[in-house]
Parts: sequence; C-alpha cells; structure tokens
Amino acid sequence: PALLGVVGLLAYVLGSVPFGIVMARLFGLGDLRKIGSGNIGATNVLRTGNKLAAFLTLVLDAGKGGIAVLAARATLGEDAAQVAGFAAFLGHCFPVFLGFKGGKGVATFLGTLLALAWPVGLAACATWAAVAAVSRISSLSALVAAALAPVWAILLGNSAAALLLVLLAGLIFWRHAGNISRLLAGTEPRIGKSTKG
Ligand code: G3P
Repeated sequence: PALLGVVGLLAYVLGSVPFGIVMARLFGLGDLRKIGSGNIGATNVLRTGNKLAAFLTLVLDAGKGGIAVLAARATLGEDAAQVAGFAAFLGHCFPVFLGFKGGKGVATFLGTLLALAWPVGLAACATWAAVAAVSRISSLSALVAAALAPVWAILLGNSAAALLLVLLAGLIFWRHAGNISRLLAGTEPRIGKSTKG
C-alpha cells in the first residue's frame, strides 16, 4: 500500500504538468487560460490556429497518462497501473502546478486507457473520432467517448477496468459542466472555432 501511494503521488505530479500551457508559451501563443474557453487542453490550443502546438499538447497530455500506467505496471503490476492512471488523470484535472485548477482530462483519459487496455483505448479513440467527424464538436465527442468507454470495456472482456472507467467518465462529465450547458443551449463552438467562457 505504501508503494502504491508513492506510485500514485509520482503519477499525480506527472499528470499535473500542463503541456497545453507549456506549448502555448513555447510557441509564443500567450497564456492559454486567457484564450477561447480558457481550458488548458489541445482543443483550446487549436483555437490559436497553431495545429502543431495543439497536436503536441494532445500527444504529451495523452502520453503522460500512458507513461504513468506503463511505468507503474512494469515496476509493481496491474493494480499499480490502475492507480497510476487514475492519479495522472487527477493530476491533469487538479494540477499542483496551477493551484489545482486544471483541465478536463480527455487526452489524459485516452492515453491512460490505451496503456491500461489498448483495445478499449482504441475503441474510445474511435468513438471520439466518429462523433467529431459528424459533429465537429470536441466536448461532445469527449462526452460520448467517456460514457461509452465502460461499455466498450465490458464488451471487450475487460470488466476489471469498467469500474475505474465509470469513475473517470463521471469526472469528465463534471469537468465539462460548462460545455454541457453550451451544448444544451446550442452555443458550443465547432473544433477550431473560437468560444467564450
Ligand atoms: O478536451 C477538452 C474538450 O472536450 C473541450 O475543450 O476548450 O472546448 O472546453 P474546450
């Protein structure tokens, strides 16, 4: 248990690294929290028009979840991998480096899931991509992908991951409260378009 705590703490700190803010700074795009939705994720980096910075944010925010899971699994096994994935996700949403005001967790969720159970991760990515292809709305794609992830886990024979995924999906919905209001009001912007709030 003590070792699991250490793994969780390390994964939380790694998950806390806000790559969107780092990329926006590196690419001279300004403070991401004052742009578009104010969120620190790849979708909001894309609103600056810099596709490379947005792509790198997506890969790095997903990668920190994936690396946390793989490193924990390699050292302590499957329970530690789940703890690390959850902790990295919490780090992204409530980062110690940003006064616990972080992102919505979607990229970190997908990266974590790809490392935890790659068939389920691929199904979740495909769900995101399919909804995005039709709707062009990032938040809606994330909400559908998160809601269906536990279903994919069960269908693909990975019910051990399903409970964690229900928890993560709940947190993702909570973090998207503002997006859900905009979706219901019909004011949520399409991918790449600017937004308020
Ligand atoms: O990954 C976050 C996405 O689902 C919504 O981002 O900036 O449109 O609130 P944003």
